[in-house]
Amino acid sequence: MRRGLTSTGRHLQARTGAILLQHPARTSIGNCDGGCPQGPLTTTTQARELHINLHGGRSSVSGVIATVFGCTGFFGRYVVNRLGRIGSQVVVAYRGEESSFRHLKVMGDLGQIVPAWYDIRDPDTIKRAVQYSNVVINLVGKRYETRNFSFDDVHVAGAAAIAKAAKEAGVERFIHVSALGADENSRSGFAKSKAIGEKVVREIIPGATILRPAALVGQRDYLLSKFGMMVRYWPFFLRVLKDTRFQPLAAGDMATALMNALASPETVGKDYDLAGPEVWTMKEMTEFVSRQTVTRIPFVDAPLAPVRLLSKTTQMFLRKPRYTAEELDFWNHANMTLSPEAKHTIEDLGLTKDDLMTMETSAGFLRQFRRPAHIGLIVDEEHHHTEKARSA
Ligand SMILES: NC(=O)c1ccc[n+]([C@@H]2O[C@H](COP(=O)([O-])OP(=O)(O)OC[C@H]3O[C@@H](n4cnc5c(N)ncnc54)[C@H](OP(=O)(O)O)[C@@H]3O)[C@@H](O)[C@H]2O)c1
Repeated sequence: MRRGLTSTGRHLQARTGAILLQHPARTSIGNCDGGCPQGPLTTTTQARELHINLHGGRSSVSGVIATVFGCTGFFGRYVVNRLGRIGSQVVVAYRGEESSFRHLKVMGDLGQIVPAWYDIRDPDTIKRAVQYSNVVINLVGKRYETRNFSFDDVHVAGAAAIAKAAKEAGVERFIHVSALGADENSRSGFAKSKAIGEKVVREIIPGATILRPAALVGQRDYLLSKFGMMVRYWPFFLRVLKDTRFQPLAAGDMATALMNALASPETVGKDYDLAGPEVWTMKEMTEFVSRQTVTRIPFVDAPLAPVRLLSKTTQMFLRKPRYTAEELDFWNHANMTLSPEAKHTIEDLGLTKDDLMTMETSAGFLRQFRRPAHIGLIVDEEHHHTEKARSA
């Protein structure tokens, strides 16, 4: 696998946020019409080939001008950060208010993070967001359906609209993030729509690189952070699917895998199943969170059906529902661990098992869910809680 390719002059634009002035992929050289002393020059349009320098700093030029859809979510932050810190120009496509991308503005050099408003149902706004980019990354996803958007609206029609616009704009690399467990025949609406979305994207852009990550772990994730809130504020932990197996992947490792995929032309047109180094059951994971947060609330293992019904009826009234029927279906019906039949894995993106963060090393952020008295406590995994914790 080729990594850390050197940037050529093609993308060397003035670093003044001049992204909207010039199309990077269509640079012409030698446009003299014969009036110059050296005689006529042949006009040459350079072939499209992306050259990326992964090793520069934020004031260097990586050669990437990327539009990131879904950048305002949990994982988007990691992607924009990785792109910005090697000196890329990043068009942050957002749909909400201007405050939704505010935290991303500091992730690149001055003027290099460019916001572009879009509506996933309006192709013209999508076209506008991709027109000057040589890379498009689609991270748009929903974990549960709402009145306004179904899974198909976002994972299928939305993904198709983004892929079409990227194709028309002639972008050089298209990275589509799906999910491990995506399966057209799944009983989970999420898994099914993700699989159909992949197929639609592949039809439009055969060279798209599709990444299917397992549950991602990191600050503000939807797994450990959610459990952290539950152990901290619920009187007891209502647990379901305690034997379901997960293979969580650190969001930072996923971001590294994505950048490696971008830098390697060999990943064009391939699918990757990406999972972490360890398999954890729901029971083990929730107990781990309880230990790390030094809480000792009781766990109540409930059958799935009533919890699903309760979630289904309450989730529409809650801003951040802890359980949703769609997510429970996904955990219940989809395979959340790496299949032995997976063709391409994270190792094919240059990360060995030893490079990956374990749950223990990546879950330091769980400290924020401790009571103030326990913030500085060192948790002894073997004996679970230290003396101080026991007496507290
Ligand atoms: N997090 C995980 O554990 C995990 C695991 C496997 C796969 N994935 C996939 O990885 C991708 C990124 O995940 P994430 O955790 O960062 O998700 P996230 O935090 O829920 O963010 C989703 C992004 O999609 C945007 N979005 C959702 N609905 C939209 C709509 N109707 N129109 C336009 N934009 C819309 C959101 O915009 P707003 O901010 O405006 O809402 C946000 O930027 C998703 O495709 C997800 O399915 C995630």
